[in-house]
Amino acid sequence: MSTENPITVLFVCLGNICRSPMAEAVFAHTVKQNNLQDRFTKIDSAGTASYHVGSVPDNRSASTCKAHGVAVKHKARKVTKKDFEDFDYILCMDESNLSDLKRIQPSGSKAVLKLFGEYDPQGELIIEDPYYGGNDGFEHNFRQVTRASEGLLKSLKLI
Ligand code: 4NP
Repeated sequence: MSTENPITVLFVCLGNICRSPMAEAVFAHTVKQNNLQDRFTKIDSAGTASYHVGSVPDNRSASTCKAHGVAVKHKARKVTKKDFEDFDYILCMDESNLSDLKRIQPSGSKAVLKLFGEYDPQGELIIEDPYYGGNDGFEHNFRQVTRASEGLLKSLKLI
């Protein structure tokens, strides 16, 4: 397996306690399942808001991941300008995340900034905020990030 051109990926949502730690955990799990750990030197997540900085993932997000055999370990942090230097891909959940990120993206940044849903083969572009909804929202998010994780690896021609 090649260790050339390692890839770094950051997932971003609003609070960094529901969707993006789930996306981080599911993507890391998918990378492991495909024996691609050497290709990804950094997989992380962050939020555009600071309300939950330092918090562990929302119980509903963590328990949905655990129910599917995916380990979650994260402490919420806010996205920074430096993330645009440190990560090749910055993948967010909804249009509001995308416009917030575009506002802070330094000019000349080479990071690929996209909706993670662009990699969903079923074309569900938006990964909706599940915070004020029920558990079914988290299950739905889980299916979306699972499909998009495989879609991203396929687009990189790694699977
Ligand atoms: P996330 O969900 O952006 O997927 O982490 C949310 C978490 C917290 C809040 C909103 C969305 N909040 O308003 O506190």
